[in-house]
Amino acid sequence: MMTMTGTNQLGGRTISRVVYSAEDVQRRVRELGREITEAYTPEDRLLVLGLLKGSFLFMADLVREIDLPLHTDFMVVSSYGDDTVSSGDVRILYDPALSLKDRAVLIVEDVVDSGTTLRRLLPVLRAREPKSLEVCTLLHKRLTTLDEEPRWVGFEAPDEFLVGYGLDHAEDFRHLPYIASL
Ligand code: IMP
Ligand code: MG
Repeated sequence: MMTMTGTNQLGGRTISRVVYSAEDVQRRVRELGREITEAYTPEDRLLVLGLLKGSFLFMADLVREIDLPLHTDFMVVSSYGDDTVSSGDVRILYDPALSLKDRAVLIVEDVVDSGTTLRRLLPVLRAREPKSLEVCTLLHKRLTTLDEEPRWVGFEAPDEFLVGYGLDHAEDFRHLPYIASL
């Protein structure tokens, strides 16, 4: 499988295996875009909310495959911390200026790993009274079960550290058009 010359070795880490090729990713993003298009109507006033930075490429490709009027915004949430902290303690470093009230909100996430981010964030967003709140994640490692599972999952991912297509290792590899294992 082809990797980008010059970028398969960064920060002392080497890509060992391409898990999803650029073609795999683009095909799946098109399917997700079709399914999301069918799930909403223009009256839903869809707001697609990407969690930065990991979702930036997925978000950019996904919204171009959604054939509905929509708005986009982003959030920055810190994903580390103690699992025992209540959902109210999620650290939101950048909060969208747009109101969520009475809008269909679709969260776009790169990967569900421990599930901590979604477990903490969803109650905070639900308190803002969106009309609906759904999640589309590119990858789900199924290491945990959530009370509210993402409605859309791009790929059932292996329990490996993955990089590319937005996912990083110490900020390296985000720009790769494919998803690889280190
Ligand atoms: P969580 O553990 O489900 O809360 O995932 C939090 C965040 O950890 C994700 O949004 C990613 O930014 C990051 N993350 C988890 N697994 C990986 C991985 O395999 N590669 C790169 N980033 C990851
Ligand atoms: Mg990250």
